[in-house]
Amino acid sequence: MSKDTMIKKAVIPAAGFGTRFLPVTKSQPKEMLPIVDTPVIQCVVEEAVAAGIRDILMIIGKGKRSIEEHFDRNFELESELEEKNREHELQTIRHISSMANIHFVWQKELKGLGDAIRCARDHVGKEPFAVLLGDTIIDAKPGVTKQLIEVFNRYQESVVGLEEVPRAKVSRYGIMSGKPLDKGGIYLVDDWIEKPKVEEAPSNLAIAGRYILVPEIFDLLDSQTAGKNNEIQLTDAMRRLVKMRAMYGLRFDGVRYDIGNKLDFVKTNLIYALKREDMAKDLRAFLKTLVKSD
Ligand code: UTP
Repeated sequence: MSKDTMIKKAVIPAAGFGTRFLPVTKSQPKEMLPIVDTPVIQCVVEEAVAAGIRDILMIIGKGKRSIEEHFDRNFELESELEEKNREHELQTIRHISSMANIHFVWQKELKGLGDAIRCARDHVGKEPFAVLLGDTIIDAKPGVTKQLIEVFNRYQESVVGLEEVPRAKVSRYGIMSGKPLDKGGIYLVDDWIEKPKVEEAPSNLAIAGRYILVPEIFDLLDSQTAGKNNEIQLTDAMRRLVKMRAMYGLRFDGVRYDIGNKLDFVKTNLIYALKREDMAKDLRAFLKTLVKSD
């Protein structure tokens, strides 16, 4: 890798079944669930675009056709909006299909996140690339992918976004073991521990669904045996990568929302609706009446 390798491609895994969000995910991709009026996966694409990435590969599977349709142009709808002079809506929907070059590849069998990323090998080639989980948004300024790319530009090695979680909850996450390098939240990683017991956790910094990975991860994923839930786990391949090359973690300033979890989904919608000028006032008043009558 040359000293000034740039991150030009992002991979968004979005093939999963979403069993934690049934029944809606029986026929709807969870990545298309709205945050007020915008599908989660559009917010994820916007984060990649804000980091300067224009080439985006989505990993999809059965039942995910609405994701393809969302990012395609809809000429009939455009001409309808044009005729009615609804300029704002027209710009809004044109922006979706024009902001990036979006490609799709199918994960044939849902064998886990590591397997999903392996499907990106031919498209990514031999460059380092960004990974953004398609069901996770992170409220951060600047966006976390941009923050990770800045760290990558410094070290030219893999960088993983880390979220500080309450110590009592570490056993729900993949946790980093490593040493802080500075006060800016950068860590040199020495291991990744999947769902540790509270007393055995090396930190309270959890893998947060955003990564910059070097292409060597593909060979490791190819030779990775199935782990937890009989799936190819990305974390297992990352444990092997960290033994071969330096890996960094970045504790970002921001809040992560996993939309595949029902409570997070409802909370995220309230938080984002309260940020919107067109509904904040009415919603706040409504929420007060709800809490009072509780
Ligand atoms: P999750 O860990 O949330 O798994 O995936 P899941 O299967 O989608 O959902 P649950 O646990 O059954 O509710 C994190 C991201 O990785 C993608 C998902 O679409 C999601 O965006 N993924 C997961 C794949 O693309 N392929 C897989 O085999 C698994």
